[in-house]
Amino acid sequence: MGIEIIGIGSYLPEKILTNTELEKMVDTTDEWITTRTGIKERRIAKDTEATSDLAIHAAKRAIKKANISALDLDAIIVATITPDMFFPSTACFVQKGLGAKNAAAFDIAAACSGFIYGLAIAKSFINSDTCKTVMVLGAEKLSSIVDWTDRNICVLLGDGAGAVILKKTNSTSDILSTYLGADGNAGDLLYIPGGGSRNPATHKTVDERLHYMKMEGNKLFKIAVRAMADSAKKAIELAGITRDDVKLIIPHQANIRIVEAVARQLGVPMDKVFLNIQKYGNTSSATTPIALEEAIYEGKVKKGDIVVLVAFGGGLTWGATAIRL
Ligand code: UT7
Repeated sequence: MGIEIIGIGSYLPEKILTNTELEKMVDTTDEWITTRTGIKERRIAKDTEATSDLAIHAAKRAIKKANISALDLDAIIVATITPDMFFPSTACFVQKGLGAKNAAAFDIAAACSGFIYGLAIAKSFINSDTCKTVMVLGAEKLSSIVDWTDRNICVLLGDGAGAVILKKTNSTSDILSTYLGADGNAGDLLYIPGGGSRNPATHKTVDERLHYMKMEGNKLFKIAVRAMADSAKKAIELAGITRDDVKLIIPHQANIRIVEAVARQLGVPMDKVFLNIQKYGNTSSATTPIALEEAIYEGKVKKGDIVVLVAFGGGLTWGATAIRL
C-alpha cells in the first residue's frame, strides 16, 4: 500500500496580464522581464474573487478526476500567503464551498514551499491513520499583496491554484521521501511588514505601503539556487533512488534562471525540468501543483513515473519531495 494522488486539478483566472501591458504601468520592458525572469504573462483574478474561490475551482476539478464525493474528504489543507482573511482559514472557506462537511480544515503558512510542507503533513495524517483521504492545495491571489507601483515585484507574480487528493491505495504509487528546511534569520528578505500583530494596520502603515510584499530579489536568488538544489538532492537520496530514476523535476517557478542553475547543480538536462513560468509567473505555493497537473495533462509524466517537486520561498522555507505517481 502506498499513498497515491488519486485526483489533481488546477485553476488559473482568465484575465491575462502581458509584459507589454506592464510596460504601460511601471518603468519596465518586455525584454527586461523576459531575459531576467522568463516570464511573458501572468493571470490576474477578478476583484470579486478571493483565494478560496480560485482554490474551490481547482478542488472541484481534483474531486472530479478522483471520482469521489466532497464528503469523502477527511482533511483540507491550504497552503497560502494570501488568505481570504486572517481567520477563518481559507481551508474553512474551501470546505464550505465544496460542502466537504466531514473534513477537518486548516491553512499552513510556508510561503512558496507551502504545498510541499502540506504534502508532508498529509502523508503523516494518512500513515498515522488520522485521515484516509486528504486534499492539499496551493492557492494564491498574489495580485492582492502586490504593490503595482513597485517594478521590482509586480512583474514577477500571478494568481492561481492547484489541488491534489491523496489516499492510500493498493498500487505502486507513493510519496517516497520528503525533505523540509527553513531559515528564519533571513526572513526579512521576503515579507509583508504591516498588517499583522507586529505592525497592526493603521493609516500610517497603509500610507507607507507596508501591507505590500517586500523583496530583496538579488540576495534571494543565490539562496534559492542552493536551497532548491540541496533539497532536491536530499529528497532523491532519502527516496533511495538516483537522479536517473527521476522522470521529471517540477521546480517552484520563481525565475527561469534559478531553475536553470538548479538543473545545472543537479546535473539534469532542462528537458527533464518542467517550466510554465512564461505563462503564469510566480504563483507562490500554487506553482508546483499547477505544474504537476500540466505535466500530467501534457503526457510528460504518467502513472509509475517518479517526479521530484522542489520549492523555496519566504520564511525562508524550502523543501522537496520524491513521488512515484
Ligand atoms: O518565490 C521565491 C522567492 N523569490 C525568488 O526567489 C526571487 C529571486 N530573485 C529573482 O528572481 C531576481 O533577483 C529578480 C528577477 C527579482 C531580479 O533580477 P536580478 O537580475 O537579480 O536584478 P537586480 O535586482 O540585480 O536588478 C538589476 C537592475 C536594477 O537596476 P540598477 O540598480 O542596476 O540600475 C533594478 O532596479 O534591474 C532593475 N530592475 C528592473 N528594470 C526593469 C528591477 N526590476 C526591474 C523591472 N524592469 N521590472
